[in-house]
Amino acid sequence: MLSPAAKKTVSVPETTLGPFIALHRHCRLLKNYRLWCRSAAPSKTEMRTRFSTADETFLDIHRALFVVSRVVAGNIHLIANSYGHYDLAKMKKVSSGIFPIIALDRKAPKPLHRQVYDGYRTAIVEGSLRAGQRVPSTRVLTSELGVSRIPILNAYAQLLAEGYFESRVGAGTIVSRSLPDQVPLLDPRSPRSARVRSGRRPVSKRAESLPAIESVPWRRGWGAFGVSQVAFNQFPFQVWNSLVTRHCRNIHARSLDYGDPMGSKSLREAIAAYLRTARRVRCEAEQIMIVSGSQQALEVSTRVLLDPGSRVWMEEPGYRFARSVFASNGCQIVPVPIDSEGLSVAAGIRQSRRARAALVTPSHQYPLGVTMSASRRLQLLDWAERSGSWIIEDDYDSEYRYESMPIASLQGLDANARVVYIGTFSKVLYPSLRLGYVVIPADLVGRFLAVRIAMDIGPSRFFQAVLADFIREGHFSRHIRRMRLLYGERRSVLTDRLRDELGLAADITGGQAGMHLSLTLKGIRDREVAERAARQNLWLVPLSSSYLGKALRQGFILGFGSTTVETIPNAVRKLRSVLNSH
Ligand SMILES: Cc1ncc(COP(=O)(O)O)c(C=O)c1O
Repeated sequence: MLSPAAKKTVSVPETTLGPFIALHRHCRLLKNYRLWCRSAAPSKTEMRTRFSTADETFLDIHRALFVVSRVVAGNIHLIANSYGHYDLAKMKKVSSGIFPIIALDRKAPKPLHRQVYDGYRTAIVEGSLRAGQRVPSTRVLTSELGVSRIPILNAYAQLLAEGYFESRVGAGTIVSRSLPDQVPLLDPRSPRSARVRSGRRPVSKRAESLPAIESVPWRRGWGAFGVSQVAFNQFPFQVWNSLVTRHCRNIHARSLDYGDPMGSKSLREAIAAYLRTARRVRCEAEQIMIVSGSQQALEVSTRVLLDPGSRVWMEEPGYRFARSVFASNGCQIVPVPIDSEGLSVAAGIRQSRRARAALVTPSHQYPLGVTMSASRRLQLLDWAERSGSWIIEDDYDSEYRYESMPIASLQGLDANARVVYIGTFSKVLYPSLRLGYVVIPADLVGRFLAVRIAMDIGPSRFFQAVLADFIREGHFSRHIRRMRLLYGERRSVLTDRLRDELGLAADITGGQAGMHLSLTLKGIRDREVAERAARQNLWLVPLSSSYLGKALRQGFILGFGSTTVETIPNAVRKLRSVLNSH
């Protein structure tokens, strides 16, 4: 902790031998003081009584010694100003380096300083310490290794002299950025550092069942039509930052402990009130579990409700990250087609009447954007009740509806507690927040809790507290209202421009809600077009990538959340020119 003296400028005569010697001259009490200081920092009153010195002299000594002890003992460097004085206010606290593993053998004939030197040199050569990485100060390393200071100082001096270390004012000691030429650095990723034997190396069936993550060209860039991107620059940073600051100031001992594994009570209460009112979800705070987004919500739900081999209906086309959850849990995916009313329940029954669950996005189907009709909702609930199946409702972006009031949730229509409702803050706030929730049927709360604890014990506490205040204080609903207007404008400019540029060739669906629409085009191969477009920095997500089976539609999912009105006309023109350029 910095003493009040640290905030003031300390005047210490500069000498070539450094502040320590200067202080030696300055005060004969220094030696005693230093010895004493090693165990505990004395207060000024203590020092006054102990050394019976005059106030002024003492204050000076105290300040000066503070400087010396920080310079010698800590990783702090003095800045000498042009008047030959050291300005403590400008001194920078340097973070301590990470301790390398150095095995010392006090009984070995090799001297300790050589062992420390060799330990560092090997770590640098093997690449476990990299150029520019900070090393601990000699004082800290001395106490950590439990040896005397001298061998450590000697080893550091040699490493500095040979160019393995460099030391800079204000930056502490780091591994040299220009290592000596003779250092034969091993690439830690090379076969020499870890040999991989040829042949098959067993991994779990779960891991094998997942498709490799392709580095597709249309995901590499940032710009118009980005899917899952919100209007990042329109986020209410000021309000959010002030809430973050408020909670930062409020961190206390108890807030460091594990929180409630279901999530913070205040956030769950705020979400329950919002869902009951705005989404007509039937719920109490006790049924809500806070998770790190829809993806974790789906993982917990799958582990609770399904077994390896269980059949699950998935929308076709559908959300491919959800597919990975089912696949990694050994479930059998039954792709059920989407028509103009949403998931075809009749087709699902024909394909697999006894499926254990169905995953649906009834408010705004992903990716086609269809809203599930009332009769389909009733058919689906009826099927679930008759066959003893579960419905997982992913309500990922329903806050934004442009031509009518938001559609009530499917869960709200369910009289038999067959629906597990999933929501997320990724679209309505921002995706890196990684906060979402599950509304669990009351009788299953204990099961969900047990599975959740097995996964990660519980959610991180800090942003839950910030978000609870954000909702409770009305900023959340204000943000939704503001964004609905903004996205509504972006969507109508985009649909107009698409109609103008592409005419009848374009079949646009799903723009009534959310932050993306779906563009179906005849006679194209969407992946090839997307690859061509990416070469021109236009990032188009092909519709066919959302199909599990044969793609019945070709086209693109166009996000408009982060696409400004000004950039839309150009981006649509570019799209047309890419389409025409084969
Ligand atoms: C259908 C669907 N569900 C959920 C999400 C959000 O997932 P998460 O909450 O894990 O960020 C997305 C994001 O694009 C989505 O498209």
